[in-house]
Amino acid sequence: MNTATIKFEAFESLQNDDCQERIIKAKKLLGKKIVILGHHYQNETVYRHADLTGDSLKLAKYVSELEAQYIVFLGVHFMAEVANILSRPDQITVLPDLAAGCSMADMANLAKVERTYRELSKVINFDETITPITYINSAADLKAFCGEHGGVVCTSTNAPNILDWAFKQRSKVLFFPDQNLGRWTGYKMGIPLEEMPVWDPDLPLGGLDESTIKKAKVLLWKGHCAVHQMFRLQHINLFKEKYPDGLIISHPEAPFEVCQNSDYVGSTEFILNTIKAAKPNTKWLVGTELNLVNRLANEMKSEGKLVQFMSHVVCECSTMARIDPQHLAWTLENIIHGKPVNIIKVPDREAKLAKLTLDRMLEIS
Ligand code: 13P
Ligand code: SF4
Repeated sequence: MNTATIKFEAFESLQNDDCQERIIKAKKLLGKKIVILGHHYQNETVYRHADLTGDSLKLAKYVSELEAQYIVFLGVHFMAEVANILSRPDQITVLPDLAAGCSMADMANLAKVERTYRELSKVINFDETITPITYINSAADLKAFCGEHGGVVCTSTNAPNILDWAFKQRSKVLFFPDQNLGRWTGYKMGIPLEEMPVWDPDLPLGGLDESTIKKAKVLLWKGHCAVHQMFRLQHINLFKEKYPDGLIISHPEAPFEVCQNSDYVGSTEFILNTIKAAKPNTKWLVGTELNLVNRLANEMKSEGKLVQFMSHVVCECSTMARIDPQHLAWTLENIIHGKPVNIIKVPDREAKLAKLTLDRMLEIS
């Protein structure tokens, strides 16, 4: 038997249709040995093969219930890391393309967060005063940092509960890497905007003076999602001019003024459920990633619902889109071959500390 892995070059030039057949065949052969988890932003060409779909919280919750030996993740790197951390040690997590990262997650890294810790410690006692919260869209070592410093992880679904918990522990929060989710959640809790300054990790003292830091309730890391950053108030105004009774729904990663002018703000799962449950013939403007909106628009046509993407330019999550049928077929055939590729394995110490914060998050939410 050939023990080498099958090289990706053999799949690169395959047509999508050929890959579809191979994926279906591979899934049949592997049976209960694998489970495929798919995030809502995945393209239809792979999303259709997912056994379970969800937002990042729902997918994280599924992991602890899975029996399969292999967890194939249709999503981005941090999601596969979470799956690895929350799964049993004998289970193997695979990400079909290792280049499927999250550009927002990359806006914070351990060196910058540790420097922030040192800088803030010059002004206040960090471990007595600040609860660090990392959005789940972050590398495992940042979750481990939170584990080490009494902090926690949050998702777009549970951010309000998590922030509430954080303030019961200490008087301030350092929220990274998404300033928009942090600001929106704090604002909904009644925290004034001036008490949520932006911390720029590339500037001395985050670009703030000591009194601003001392007065702050939430220090918002200077990070954002490039996809959600494209949505604008003008898009909402134009839609409202055309459809005065239309409804606006946005993801909390969208800019503050977009969230403020939306009828609903919530996670990808919330967006799907809200529009699916809405009355027939309603009209929706949706501020989140394009693949989700396109899929929903098609599904809702039969109920006469109009589902429109918020921006006029195409803004798909380009890193999510790296998971294509070619990579999925390649990954599955290597599992059949007994040579799994693109295994995601978080180093033990990091995984232990990160698990602490993820378990804490699951308990709170
Ligand atoms: P959800 O947790 O709402 O699925 O969002 C994840 C994400 O990456 C949004 O950009
Ligand atoms: Fe990251 Fe934005 Fe893509 Fe979500 S949409 S995975 S936050 S880059």
